[in-house]
Amino acid sequence: MKKKIAVILAAGRGTRMKSSLNKVLHPVLGRSMVGWSIDACRHADLQSYVVVGYQGDQVRQAFVNEDVFFATQDEPRGTGHAVLCALDSLPKSGLCVVMCGDTPLFRGETLLELVDQHEKESPLVTVLTTIIPEPASYGRIIRDASKMPLRIVEAANATSEELQIQEINTGTYVIDLEFLNEVLPTLPPHPPKQEIYLTDVLEIAAKRGKAKAVILQDEEECRGVNDRQALAQASRVLQRRIVDLHMKNGVSFEDPDSVTVERNVVLEQDVYIERGVVLRGTVYIQTGARIGAYSVIENSEIQFRTTIHPYSHIAGAQIGEYSSVGPYARLREGTVLEERVKVGNFVETKKANMKTGSKASHLTYLGDVVVGANANVGAGTITCNYDGFGKHKTIIGNGAFIGSNTSLVAPVTIGNGSIVGAGSTITKDVDENSIGVTRAQQRNIEGGAVRFRNKRNAK
Ligand code: UD1
Ligand code: MG
Repeated sequence: MKKKIAVILAAGRGTRMKSSLNKVLHPVLGRSMVGWSIDACRHADLQSYVVVGYQGDQVRQAFVNEDVFFATQDEPRGTGHAVLCALDSLPKSGLCVVMCGDTPLFRGETLLELVDQHEKESPLVTVLTTIIPEPASYGRIIRDASKMPLRIVEAANATSEELQIQEINTGTYVIDLEFLNEVLPTLPPHPPKQEIYLTDVLEIAAKRGKAKAVILQDEEECRGVNDRQALAQASRVLQRRIVDLHMKNGVSFEDPDSVTVERNVVLEQDVYIERGVVLRGTVYIQTGARIGAYSVIENSEIQFRTTIHPYSHIAGAQIGEYSSVGPYARLREGTVLEERVKVGNFVETKKANMKTGSKASHLTYLGDVVVGANANVGAGTITCNYDGFGKHKTIIGNGAFIGSNTSLVAPVTIGNGSIVGAGSTITKDVDENSIGVTRAQQRNIEGGAVRFRNKRNAK
């Protein structure tokens, strides 16, 4: 089989981003910009070679765990020079897609289709073009009388007539690798910047009668990202694609334009997403679950028919079926709620395992804790898990009842079926089916309130 690879050009400085982060590493919905291009190439069965230059180590580092090759262009001396810098590491035959690392909107399907179109006639070069009413700085496609592509002229070098042409070079090509190996080292530098233009390969191919141009219908796909505004626009387009796919698969969005749903989010059928929800990282939400408005969920799993009420923040948690969380709950890393668990408003959990049917309905901190099945944790309960040196564990037994405003000073165990009196500070274990209470004796002073008021009024 023919070898198929992609060379992704990412050696430019990207100064308009005004960032210490390399331009192509800027994240868009959970994946770097160039990561989206690499994924599109992967989708089209193309092995990626990324040409890096400025801050190249940052880019290499970002993909150490991925099947991506790199080449370095020390100085940005043009697109042709960039590919030349990778040439030694490329196969000697087969075909090569060349694209820019700052065009994250290209779909894998588009690259597949382009390669297909190329393979139909096997020219030496196929350039992907598109029509733009005001093409500004893009290279213009010059065709002959029979509409065959002849060459690409850069806007800087174009005549005023050529500048009228609306068909532009998207910067994406399919090039025969034998041909590339033959001609790339022979390309001359162009004034004014003495750059080597990759576009010259099209002209050479055309002279041999083997150049082709394919027109991209959706002009949006080839949009390059050079600044933060374009980055935000690209993000909007990708977001819409992600959300549309979920809707096609049976997920409802109250307001699709208001959400952030990153690419590694899995939503089953009949999930309902309210307005302003943010789903980041690896999130898995099972069928029938409902995510309340303005909740943020990161790297978590929400199971069957669970409801997350508005304004909850959930990270690194697993939430079992038929549970209810929030509003205003904060579930932190290591939180595991089994089935039918209730976590109410202003409850914070961390490394908390709440077993089936347990409840913490209001104003509580549960850290480093096991809450037994059907146990009830009253309002204002605090697990005092940190003594200034280390973290300690609290165990609350099955069916236990923790009265409101209780401090459980860890390490401590409340036995199955036990009751802790409201307002207690528990420092010792409570045996099964016992009551633990640390309240001071209550004293009622008869008529005391009257005497108190009289005394104050007399002053
Ligand atoms: C190039 C094309 C132009 C096309 C446009 C599409 C040439 C000569 N011109 O324009 O016809 O319309 O792309 O966007 O090819 N890069 C490097 N090393 C370099 C120069 C560029 O890696 O020395 C990378 C950049 O990081 C970027 C891509 O190549 O990802 C395109 O570079 P850019 O300067 O934007 O393209 P032009 O050369 O202006
Ligand atoms: Mg340039």
